[in-house]
Amino acid sequence: MTEPELLFDPTDPTVALDPFPAYARLRETHPVWRSPASGIWFVTRHADVHASWRDKRLGSSFSHRYTAEEFLTDGALPPWYDARYPDFAAFERWDLISLEPPDHTKLRRLVVEAFTPRTIERQRPIAQRLVAERLAAGRESGSLDVARDVAEPLSLAIICDLIGVPPSDRAAILALSHDVVGMYEPQPPDEKKARANDAAREFMQYTAGLIAERRRAPADDLLSGLLDATIDGERLDDAQVTSTVMLLLMAGHEASVNAAGNGVAAFAAHPEQWDLLRSDGSLLKPAIEETLRFDPPLQFFQRWVLEHDFEVAGTSVPRGARVGLMIGSANRDPRRYPEPDVFRIVRGDASHLSFGGGIHFCLGAPLARLELEVLFGALAEALPRIEVLPGAVRRPGFQFRGYSSLPIAPTA
Ligand code: HEM
Repeated sequence: MTEPELLFDPTDPTVALDPFPAYARLRETHPVWRSPASGIWFVTRHADVHASWRDKRLGSSFSHRYTAEEFLTDGALPPWYDARYPDFAAFERWDLISLEPPDHTKLRRLVVEAFTPRTIERQRPIAQRLVAERLAAGRESGSLDVARDVAEPLSLAIICDLIGVPPSDRAAILALSHDVVGMYEPQPPDEKKARANDAAREFMQYTAGLIAERRRAPADDLLSGLLDATIDGERLDDAQVTSTVMLLLMAGHEASVNAAGNGVAAFAAHPEQWDLLRSDGSLLKPAIEETLRFDPPLQFFQRWVLEHDFEVAGTSVPRGARVGLMIGSANRDPRRYPEPDVFRIVRGDASHLSFGGGIHFCLGAPLARLELEVLFGALAEALPRIEVLPGAVRRPGFQFRGYSSLPIAPTA
């Protein structure tokens, strides 16, 4: 028997660097494609990804309904089910993204309550000040890495400030977070998985210390709010608070930083769109939606097939399999967007799937949008054009798409 063709290989560095041509080929021939390497059934078109996010026959977890023995029929478990990675599994146990109702509903309600529009809006002046300082420092020194010097400190400062992580601990949080999320790649090598597990353990220990401090001396921050909150008369236990805080700290900056870098790069490559944005401030919000559509920071999310009758785009996918909802491909589907590979800030269409959909729709979307508005607003005021300088480095890996370094000219 011949091996099935590897139509799409997310571990190929050239695909990770620019996945869009590979998406386009796959999307035209295969609305659904099972990767022989990972066992994941990739869903490639906008309408199907959009519908899948809301489909009750799919779930972020199966353990609320089945044991692994009775459930798994096709494909492997994600790596954190491996007994070698118990610390990562302990974090995942209460990771909101991996929960299903009723646990998900309760925990999410609590976090949403703490994330009020007022709490988020309070971050705007803090973000404005930080971005202004960083841009001024770049002008003075003559060098500005928009990923490292602006977007990363911005997102990290905002989420850490909201949660109550002191400034002295933020660099350590950043390093741990980068290592933990390595586990979510489609096929991480053993070394990366071991590093993710170690980082999860350290991160949990750090968070446990922070929790103990806040129990002793509550403050006006989200962590104190989570410790104080009750669901149906019950408080969250430490394991639940720990996973929630870790998730917020990681989700709160990984994707936003990458979104910022991808957006800056898109404008650098399309100076006429930058001119348009600078000529009309009302285009700031639609421009941000277009950057998110055009080059999303998160490429796909996985779901388990929980029922026997699941079918997508005419293809039956067996219970126990995993589907990969391909955001990057869906956002460039010509069935949904005319000329999808053209970056056009006046599309007036914010139907991109970059923040997901259904019950897990990104809880931090308003915060991410605020950060991007502040950043692009300040850049548009300061720079008549965006010029990327030599030395830009894309992050390795497929799932998290962005720049680890993106130097731009700090003055026009
Ligand atoms: C541009 C930036 C961001 C993007 C593109 C993004 C994208 C996403 C996506 C696609 C999901 C859904 C995952 C799934 O369905 O399995 C999600 C969930 C989530 N995001 Fe974001 N995110 C961003 C920023 C943030 C920020 C700043 C925060 C922090 C406060 C955050 C917190 C969360 C949380 C807590 C969830 C889980 C929600 C749930 O499971 O109910 N995100 N995000």
